[in-house]
Amino acid sequence: MAIIARDLTKIFKMPAHAPGIAGALKHVVHPQYTEKVAVDHVNFEIKDGESVAYIGPNGAGKSTTIKMLTGILYASGGEIEIQGVNPYKDRIANARNVGVVFGQRTQLWWDIPVEESFRLLKDIYEIPDARYKENMELFKEVFGLGEFITRTARRLSLGQRMRADLAASLLHDPKVLFLDEPTIGLDITVKENMRQLIRMMNRERGTTIILTSHDLQDIEDLCRRVIVIDQGRIISDVEREQLQSMFAHERGVRISLKKPGRDVYQKLLEHPELRLEMEDAHTITVMFDLHTHTAYEVISLVGELADIRDISVIEPDIKQVIEKIYRSELQVNS
Ligand SMILES: Nc1ncnc2c1ncn2[C@@H]1O[C@H](COP(=O)(O)OP(=O)(O)O)[C@@H](O)[C@H]1O
Ligand SMILES: [Mg+2]
Repeated sequence: MAIIARDLTKIFKMPAHAPGIAGALKHVVHPQYTEKVAVDHVNFEIKDGESVAYIGPNGAGKSTTIKMLTGILYASGGEIEIQGVNPYKDRIANARNVGVVFGQRTQLWWDIPVEESFRLLKDIYEIPDARYKENMELFKEVFGLGEFITRTARRLSLGQRMRADLAASLLHDPKVLFLDEPTIGLDITVKENMRQLIRMMNRERGTTIILTSHDLQDIEDLCRRVIVIDQGRIISDVEREQLQSMFAHERGVRISLKKPGRDVYQKLLEHPELRLEMEDAHTITVMFDLHTHTAYEVISLVGELADIRDISVIEPDIKQVIEKIYRSELQVNS
């Protein structure tokens, strides 16, 4: 088993004291804390070579879980095994087994050339010369590292920095790769590039992938299984396809009109099967079921009532899926 989490729990304790010096002093005498349960008895098992999306709304506990699994944060309770290793008891063995990428921060040293950062990692992980050379050649080729490897991390674009970070996390051939929002802020071609690299590691090297992302495309392209966490608790754990088929029939169009559309909205209310929303005076979103309507029908319907300026299609996003799971419209079992 690549990863086992049993009753994994994290409670953050924060000092709570009244403002001002008096409050601070009182706190020293009688310390008071508020507690935040960020991760609450989380259980899962992930097999070797699986690719799993770990998703949920902001503040759900995703990053905290990943920090515990990678040994960055201590758990308040529960047990963890990564490749049979307890990450706290055997930090060194664990470091050899895992790679981590945080979209929001880099593991590269800011002020030294990227290739020097890689050399330092080589020494830290005691990567044999031949293996290092092989990996560097592969990464130069497929990650395009050659273009910027002599620059300092500080001088890289976000896309270059993310590619360098991903390469750095893979340099020691980890069996398990944790990716926390690896495509956040990247433009679409760089996102696609990152996905290809991650997919290659999973398919060709059998690297186990655990990924958090707000981008549905990341999840569709990279993950076979989806674990949903909300308020620190797992609310669903299913195959991605199962999750998708449950919301795949829902579509939406955002229609912007040349003139204010209050009256159009009123007329559309005669179709109770459509879910309508006025985004602003000129913009109506119409959600519909693909079983009963086509996008063309919906657009024509509105086109008969008013002049259309612009149209965009709304794909179901993770937030909607999670909301649905939460409202139990989707019957998902963990
Ligand atoms: N170091 C910390 N101290 C106190 N509270 C924290 C800390 N880190 C995270 N939290 C809180 O724990 C909860 C989960 O955070 P996080 O794991 O970062 O969520 P996610 O990654 O799903 O957005 C949030 O309510 C957050 O405010
Ligand atoms: Mg996070």
